[in-house]
Amino acid sequence: GDSDRINIAIDGPAGAGKSTVARKVAEQLGYIYIDTGAMYRAVTLSALRASIEPQDSRALAALATSLDIELLPGDKGQTVLLNGEDVTDSIRSREVTLIVSLIAANETVREVLGAMQRKLAAKKGVVMDGRDIGSHVLPNAELKVFLTATVEERASRRFKEISGKQDVTLEQLAQEIADRDRLDEQREIAPLICASDALVMDSTAMTIEEVVEAIVKLSRTKLAEA
Ligand code: DC
Repeated sequence: GDSDRINIAIDGPAGAGKSTVARKVAEQLGYIYIDTGAMYRAVTLSALRASIEPQDSRALAALATSLDIELLPGDKGQTVLLNGEDVTDSIRSREVTLIVSLIAANETVREVLGAMQRKLAAKKGVVMDGRDIGSHVLPNAELKVFLTATVEERASRRFKEISGKQDVTLEQLAQEIADRDRLDEQREIAPLICASDALVMDSTAMTIEEVVEAIVKLSRTKLAEA
């Protein structure tokens, strides 16, 4: 085809494996991986540090417009800088995870981060994962995947990932994942939704490698069409 790069949107509920899959797809295609959840987490970390309540929409809006968030792609995944500080690990804390969906419901927060995301994708060649990428941020993405898995499977994957590191049970994790999905699906602005032209992939019984291979194959088909 004419153009040598496309944009790929990978959306879906919490813990479906989006970030691992997106990173590997980007690696194989030589594309840039962008984890949009990390941006919402960075704003959330900053709000926690400033003791801003999730309900305080004015303070959140002011915070979002004042922050400098940078995503640096690297071999071992993406490094996240918040006003120059490396917050890659601290944005994964339980405190952040428990309230990020409340912060992500704020209109200004979404506007600011959405604009940053569109800018990052302007030159094409990005694999972006999130909740509203195919439906809202990049409606013209050439390839849209909606990656899902059962709540039980997602909780058990997350449990294996963090076992020993955080003091939480499998049941708690399943409940927290279900709660976060509900908040993300029910918010008024750009909720978690499967875009009408997205391909739904249920990864419950698939390995990461199988999902990656399927998406890379699809992207090569799209590239040939572009
Ligand atoms: O992908 P993640 O679990 O790191 O995302 C954390 C939260 O950020 C998620 O629960 C909802 C929010 N989010 C969002 O609202 N829109 C996105 N595009 C990405 C994440």
